[in-house]
Amino acid sequence: MVLMCEPVVRAIEAVKDDDALVYLLTPQGITFNNDVAEQIVKKTKHLILICGHYEGFDERILNFVDGEISIGDYVLTGGELPALVILDTISRFIPGVIKEDSYLNDSFKDGLLDYPMYTKPRDFRGLKVPDILLSGDHAKIDEYRHNEKLRVTKEKRPDLLK
Ligand SMILES: C[S@@+](CC[C@H](N)C(=O)[O-])C[C@H]1O[C@@H](n2cnc3c(N)ncnc32)[C@H](O)[C@@H]1O
Repeated sequence: MVLMCEPVVRAIEAVKDDDALVYLLTPQGITFNNDVAEQIVKKTKHLILICGHYEGFDERILNFVDGEISIGDYVLTGGELPALVILDTISRFIPGVIKEDSYLNDSFKDGLLDYPMYTKPRDFRGLKVPDILLSGDHAKIDEYRHNEKLRVTKEKRPDLLK
């Protein structure tokens, strides 16, 4: 079964503003990531995501949308989960949704993964919070965290450093 042009295009036309961006969710689209999310937030306040099902969409629907977005190289049964993933990610970049410094250090923001985080207690079954983080020396803590971001990225996602 393939989703037909007529109902999908009429649905788009019923809700689309002039400044709206419309994307089909398909495994064949550009791969969604933080950069794509930030670009979308900068470009528009009105986003329309079309969720497919079954075999997917009649190819001619592509003429009525701005592009296709995939959330990764795997195939789900429908576009609903991709739509939620995209909405959640994008929401974090909308001013006021979360504190700006909350996402400035998050993974991928500057092309690196986030630094390791710790909370209480200082010693959990012999596993200690690094002394530097308890030193109160903010310049040294910043430098330590930056080095940790580089180390963690090199270890877990060396592809990002390229
Ligand atoms: C079973 S899939 C269709 C797969 C399609 N025949 C193909 O192989 O490219 C049904 C729907 O799930 C959604 N979907 C599945 N995987 C997805 C992914 N990785 N990213 C975004 N949407 C996806 C799309 O809306 C798609 O139309």
